[in-house]
Amino acid sequence: MAAIIIAVWIVGYIGSETPGGPDSPKRLLINIHKSVAIAVLALVVVRLVWRALHAPPPLSSGSALVRFIAGAGHWLLYLLMIAMPLTGWAWASSGGRPVEFLGLFELPRLLAPNEAAKSFLGETHRTLAWVTAVVIVGHVLAAIKHWLIDKDDVLQSMLSRRR
Ligand code: HEM
Repeated sequence: MAAIIIAVWIVGYIGSETPGGPDSPKRLLINIHKSVAIAVLALVVVRLVWRALHAPPPLSSGSALVRFIAGAGHWLLYLLMIAMPLTGWAWASSGGRPVEFLGLFELPRLLAPNEAAKSFLGETHRTLAWVTAVVIVGHVLAAIKHWLIDKDDVLQSMLSRRR
């Protein structure tokens, strides 16, 4: 999921920076961005069901404050994994733009076209995209700290099922 979300982020950013025009790849990039991000929304639902049925490994043996920050960071990641696709989907709907899944079928509109909602949701999607980037970088830096400074098995447990 991490790899997919980072790829969706990069494609969304490149797509938004690409000028539009008849021969521009902008539309293709944005369509790939939307389709793959909708898959993220479906995967996060599966992931939440899995997590509810299978207890995650206990957090590291750091101080109570460190464990609180780690737990809060994990829930923030879940919140963003839901909020990013939903704000993107609602943004496209409010602008009257279709949301297709890999060209296979079109998803229902979340909102009727509405200029005020469109500008609010666009701002929200863009702002949350940067919040997501900061949280992902923090998450990666914390994992590297466990590996290089604490020298424990937290990074290994993030990469495999064994602890
Ligand atoms: C994990 C989910 C998602 C992530 C991480 C993500 C991330 C991003 C990022 C980084 C940008 C560029 C922001 C900027 O210009 O500052 C962007 C733009 C955009 N996203 Fe998403 N996004 C996600 C889901 C979605 C979904 C589900 C849709 C629609 C169905 C969507 C529609 C768009 C659109 C239309 C743009 C703007 C393109 C433009 O400027 O023309 N996004 N997204």
